[in-house]
Amino acid sequence: MHTAGESMVDGGRTILAAPFLKWAGGKGQLLAQYEPFFPREPVCGYFEPFVGSGAVFFHLQGRGLFERAYLSEVNAELITCYLAVRDAVDDLIAALQGHECDHAEHGAAHYYAVRAWDRAPGWASTPLVRRAARMIYLNKTCYNGLWRVNSRGHCNVPMGRYRRPDILNEGRLRAAARALQGAEITVAGFERVLERAGRGDFVYCDPPYVPLSATANFTSYSAASFGEDEQRRLAEVFAALDRQGCRVMLSNSDTPLVRALYRAFRIETVSARRNINSARHKRGAVSEVVVLNY
Ligand SMILES: C[S@@+](CC[C@H](N)C(=O)[O-])C[C@H]1O[C@@H](n2cnc3c(N)ncnc32)[C@H](O)[C@@H]1O
Repeated sequence: MHTAGESMVDGGRTILAAPFLKWAGGKGQLLAQYEPFFPREPVCGYFEPFVGSGAVFFHLQGRGLFERAYLSEVNAELITCYLAVRDAVDDLIAALQGHECDHAEHGAAHYYAVRAWDRAPGWASTPLVRRAARMIYLNKTCYNGLWRVNSRGHCNVPMGRYRRPDILNEGRLRAAARALQGAEITVAGFERVLERAGRGDFVYCDPPYVPLSATANFTSYSAASFGEDEQRRLAEVFAALDRQGCRVMLSNSDTPLVRALYRAFRIETVSARRNINSARHKRGAVSEVVVLNY
């Protein structure tokens, strides 16, 4: 249950639960446009199988819409952060305090040393909190604040230039920790959602988008790619969830492939500002779709 999960009071200020990481494709800027599409009446479970930074989950929790949340995705480092925030927020805060000192003292030397931890033997058995603090620290100090990995799954983002990086936002982490209590959080590909979701549940899917052009493909959230085959499989999962009696909402780019894959369903458009692409002329407002089966 998420009854008390939506906020926490810090020195008289109420801090709303919100993403604790910046994430490519984060949906924070679209929540107001999405509002008319969210179910009005309570659902059973809430499933977000491409959770990313969880902008939609944090936005919806706390309003009594669902009793249990099931958050998943393929990026194991990211899921480690969720688990550490949910289960060990005090230890995580202490670990981030360590990075705050080091960052002030060492700058680039500390950044690149921490970034290299995932290349070391034994990294896979590193304790959860140390891993999570690493990812949050790198996310707050890396170039553009966007996590990206190479084909071996190693973080490869250069250091960003920040005068005072927001490495530790204790209020934000504690609000997120409360929101996540009771949530089931797993590393899993999107197809696993079919095993758990059923009649009366609400599933929100925010996959890596179909690229607008052949060169505009930011697809490196994790070592696995997400191409046309995966988009087609996701459309099949969408249709299967519909047959199972779930409510399903899906975000994607406004492209002929997406419109063809979901032509049997309701398709709405929203307007998003996108600046993932490094070519300046490709920044600006773009039309995106929201597919709904209700
Ligand atoms: C567009 S982002 C989600 C952004 C999120 N809605 C937010 O607000 O931050 C897509 C996410 O899907 C994850 N992903 C990629 N392939 C996946 C797969 N096969 N199954 C599940 N998740 C996947 C990526 O790691 C990435 O975090």
